[in-house]
Amino acid sequence: RIVYVNGAFVQEEDAKVSVFDRGFLFADGVYEVTSVIDGKLIDFEGHAKRLERSLTELDMTSPVTMDELLDIHRRLVTDNELVEGMIYLQITRGAADRDFAYPKDATPTLVLFTQAKSLVDSPMVGTGMKVISIEDQRWGRRDIKTVQLLYPSMGKMMAKAAGADDAWMVEDGAITEGTSNNAYIVKDGKIITRHLGTEILHGITRAAVLRFAKSAQMTVEERSFTLEEAKAADEAFITSASTFVMPVVEIDGTPLGDGKPGSVALRLREIYLEESR
Ligand code: PDD
Repeated sequence: RIVYVNGAFVQEEDAKVSVFDRGFLFADGVYEVTSVIDGKLIDFEGHAKRLERSLTELDMTSPVTMDELLDIHRRLVTDNELVEGMIYLQITRGAADRDFAYPKDATPTLVLFTQAKSLVDSPMVGTGMKVISIEDQRWGRRDIKTVQLLYPSMGKMMAKAAGADDAWMVEDGAITEGTSNNAYIVKDGKIITRHLGTEILHGITRAAVLRFAKSAQMTVEERSFTLEEAKAADEAFITSASTFVMPVVEIDGTPLGDGKPGSVALRLREIYLEESR
């Protein structure tokens, strides 16, 4: 596989980053995941905008322009003959002597790689996902897409150990989001998902799906909802760049509705795939 690192397109085994890189030592970095369908980037502009915001929030700058980033994405798709999958992008503050304070002169590290994966024809669309609830123990700036993903990793492992597919995180009784996705419930035809704030990542897929839902005359409520409300919902689903819209059929062992993927989730998935590719 060809990967991109600091200006060069190289074989993955030749790609190198310093052990002093602050991404490695402090998780001092941000990332984006953009999906690719039929060799085409999905929602690149949204991801680029969010990346710029994450960088600004951390007083970081991108070593390349957003136009150059788009070219790098496209070249990786071509060089790796990527038809379907994801492009991962990471920018860290760069390498410097270990010090908690931000270094003044570090050059940011930029890394991108592709990962082929079947996303559209995922078997999970047919079965739906099972989620468990766990306490949200992440830091308070979840709106910044940083590479500190240890708690989400722990959450996925907790879900696996419980025989589920993922975890929804709960704070003060309300669902924030999934470990790597935004969370939604549907009750009496209304789509309910947490409002934007520092408590959740502002999903690019979320923005698109809510836009499509509104133009399809569906009712959307952006507000917090409790775990109890979720368990009593008619259906539920998640959104992310790697899952698009994926139905959730069970929370903490409680089946939602008839325990099958819901019609709103499946319809939104169809609309999303149709409109964004
Ligand atoms: N995760 N919430 C969290 C905590 C996320 O990590 C993600 C994305 C989302 C959905 O955002 P978007 O629709 O922009 O992908 C919500 C990516 C896919 C990942 O970490 O692999």
